[in-house]
Amino acid sequence: MKTERKTALVIGASRGLGLGFLKEFLRRDYHVTATVRAAITGAGLEDYYEQLTMDTLDINNPHLTEAFLARMQDRQFDVIVLNAGIYGPQGRGLSDATAEEISHLIMTNAVAPVRLAERLAPLLRPETGVIAFMSSALGSLELNANDGSVLYSASKAMLNRLTRSFAAAHDYLTIINLHPGWVRTDMGGPNAPLDVETSVRGMADVLESRAGKGGHEFLDYRGKIIPW
Ligand SMILES: NC(=O)c1ccc[n+]([C@@H]2O[C@H](COP(=O)([O-])OP(=O)(O)OC[C@H]3O[C@@H](n4cnc5c(N)ncnc54)[C@H](OP(=O)(O)O)[C@@H]3O)[C@@H](O)[C@H]2O)c1
Repeated sequence: MKTERKTALVIGASRGLGLGFLKEFLRRDYHVTATVRAAITGAGLEDYYEQLTMDTLDINNPHLTEAFLARMQDRQFDVIVLNAGIYGPQGRGLSDATAEEISHLIMTNAVAPVRLAERLAPLLRPETGVIAFMSSALGSLELNANDGSVLYSASKAMLNRLTRSFAAAHDYLTIINLHPGWVRTDMGGPNAPLDVETSVRGMADVLESRAGKGGHEFLDYRGKIIPW
């Protein structure tokens, strides 16, 4: 008898690591629900129509979020990946970025993912479901990496902090904050040492290995612990 397919939800899957996650879960024979802000073409997904549901979501738009959640209400997921994120104002820091740019960065990278997770948590499969937030080692206060991207780093530190509170309120879930490594995407740039496939394969292994374990960890794509 054929076993039921596992199910994954990837938020922010138009390109980069989100699209990589979508493809990796398809390769692992999951049914994948993936959200984009605008339709994508040329991603080589045509052969997977039976395994893939595409949906539309801008995580900063409350109306789109409510409509999306209404469409998801009867669904159940083994894995949810909150991947959507932005780098923020390029080349500018605390003093010269505008208040609007900073609030957009904080909303996108920290507030909206955790708010969405609050609403998606009931859709996780009981006992074994895993919810993952796409963080970054740059958000680690202990590592205190100094690469010049202070606002981006602060937004991921805030994400980490908000997820700690989320985890305290949902202590029956398995929650992972992920550091994907430095990866060649639009955000990571062409000089990054890692390709998308290596990073997402590692992260998917990490998420599958944690199913049913519970707790809240900050792990890189090899499963190595990142200090908070
Ligand atoms: N690449 C790295 O080295 C690296 C390292 C550490 C952490 N990360 C994190 O990993 C995640 C993915 O990064 P990436 O390198 O793949 O970046 P990317 O290539 O720039 O892709 C970002 C993704 O986020 C989506 N997105 C942005 N704002 C959104 C919103 N308001 N609502 C819904 N979707 C939105 C984008 O959709 P559109 O196509 O519509 O813009 C796109 O799919 C981010 O959270 C990033 O901070 C990346």
